[in-house]
Amino acid sequence: GSCFFIILLIIPLLANASNSQILDRHSFPDGFIFGTAASAFQYEGATDEGGKSPTIWDHFSRTYPAQDDIKLMKELNMDAFRFSISWARLIPSGKLKDGVNKEGVQFYNDLIDELLANGIQPSLTLYHWEHPQSLEDEYGGFLSPNIVEDFRDFTRICFKEFGDKVKMWTTINEPYVIAVAGYDQASTEDKEAAERTLAFEIGWHLDPVIQGDYPEIVKKYVGNKLPSFTVEQSKMLKNSSDFVGINYYTARFAAHVPHIDPQKPRFKTDHHVEWKTTNHSGDIIGYGVDEYGILLSHPEGLRKVLNYIKDKYNNMPVYIKENGSYDNDDGTQPREEILKDTFRIEYHDTHFKELHKAIVEDGCDVRGYYAWSLLDNFEWEHGYTARFGLYYVDFVNDLQRYPKDSVKWFKRFLLGSVGES
Ligand code: NOJ
Repeated sequence: GSCFFIILLIIPLLANASNSQILDRHSFPDGFIFGTAASAFQYEGATDEGGKSPTIWDHFSRTYPAQDDIKLMKELNMDAFRFSISWARLIPSGKLKDGVNKEGVQFYNDLIDELLANGIQPSLTLYHWEHPQSLEDEYGGFLSPNIVEDFRDFTRICFKEFGDKVKMWTTINEPYVIAVAGYDQASTEDKEAAERTLAFEIGWHLDPVIQGDYPEIVKKYVGNKLPSFTVEQSKMLKNSSDFVGINYYTARFAAHVPHIDPQKPRFKTDHHVEWKTTNHSGDIIGYGVDEYGILLSHPEGLRKVLNYIKDKYNNMPVYIKENGSYDNDDGTQPREEILKDTFRIEYHDTHFKELHKAIVEDGCDVRGYYAWSLLDNFEWEHGYTARFGLYYVDFVNDLQRYPKDSVKWFKRFLLGSVGES
């Protein structure tokens, strides 16, 4: 049967993982899948091609012609590819009554068929942050309950057209997923702040689809601004998801803030010495920088969040749907330097070690891992300056792909020969 999930590893091995252990795919349970992840808007570009209508993101992007990259995945020895469907490519007006774009259906069927022909499992995300601009104009998109009917129609078309071939579905990408770690070092108030943060950023979305209602703490804080579920809705929601998808990049410290002050950050970030990951120039890098400071690599947080899910949601199956790090490129960095991505190898290696501990030592039911991302792509508000790919893409000239050092590392990891020279 098909797997359905709203957003957003089981058999313990006898081996004992340590930080110095060299892992490869055979260190993980049988059937564990490795893939790369992408999304429609970040990969497809094609604002006005193939009958597609503008989405909210098309307003500030330029086109990025799609090319056939499936052989790159195959060369990497990947098992799976996660991508999303562009609602606007499938149903240009956003409304089913106005018709389905046959060219759009063909576009995704061709991609799915090609993946399957190459032995790569398609894993599909229904909503990766883009909907037709017309729905935004008409009723404000996801701010309105009107979206429910239109989104339902869109998903029905997806299941009808692709459901026979695609067995793994993710409903919504990152409704708000972030791991907050470090609370084991905090005082009581900060610990509670961390719990609260987790309730708002994980429980808010997962509790309803697993337990049938919002977390109590969220209800308490949001009050009557939070819609309530009817008994019938709650029954339909409860256990409606087959797995939890986690996009893990970094962790943050949480601190108690007694009064809500919009001018002050809700999180504390700390330049913890072990959290340091550096790029080829020796600069500290992390997942990125936001209004709370630099977001550093913290693989231990991955193990923590997996244990949090295990304890809170009865060890339900988990897939890591994204994990990766980027190079900052303002257009002046020589390609040769960017191709030497030792920091990325270190990033994945350290996260695999923690993931392995979570499975083998802690018994977390994690079943797969997708690296973000196969190619450098359009990183939303950072445009093309944040390079997340295992492959470098020449955006200026010809969109040609160049393997970074991490490609060689992944290939060997997935072949099961990381330890060999
Ligand atoms: C989050 C999003 O799902 C994806 O679209 C984004 O590019 C990556 N993580 C990296 O920021």
